[in-house]
Amino acid sequence: MSGKRTLTMIKPTAVKLGYTGPILAMINNAGFKIIAMKFTQLTANQAKTFYLVHKERPFYSDLVEFMSSGPIVAVILEKDNAVEDFRKLIGATNPVNAEEGTIRILYGTNLQENAVHGSDSDENAITESDFHFSKLERF
Ligand code: RTP
Ligand code: MG
Repeated sequence: MSGKRTLTMIKPTAVKLGYTGPILAMINNAGFKIIAMKFTQLTANQAKTFYLVHKERPFYSDLVEFMSSGPIVAVILEKDNAVEDFRKLIGATNPVNAEEGTIRILYGTNLQENAVHGSDSDENAITESDFHFSKLERF
């Protein structure tokens, strides 16, 4: 299934602000199919593990604290060219630089609280999907 799936998380601020429905509608309208979905809250240790690739970055501890601060929605999405197309749909990391019509310009609050996560490679999409979902939770 390489190339066809990606993993997203609707981040705590976007969930808190009531953007879960509108964001899922945009994802649906862009042609992504939902394979698995979970409303959950990460522990600090789980957030540390999820973002381990960023452990040397100056924002790592802030990011871990933020991502474990409230509920998130984790979703596996399927579409041809899923990773690249989803990153186009979400826009640049900092919402002020995100393109018109993207999820981050519409629903992002700031650089950290930028509404959604999107996998950055097919390999990470698999690792991140396995982090959140067992095989029995995928449809
Ligand atoms: P994501 O992984 O969440 O899809 O975001 P991304 O690829 O666009 O950005 P990445 O470089 O992977 O950063 C992961 C998340 O860390 C937060 N961040 N904070 N304070 C900062 O300088 C800073 N830079 C990044 C954001 O929440 C970003 O999405
Ligand atoms: Mg990233």
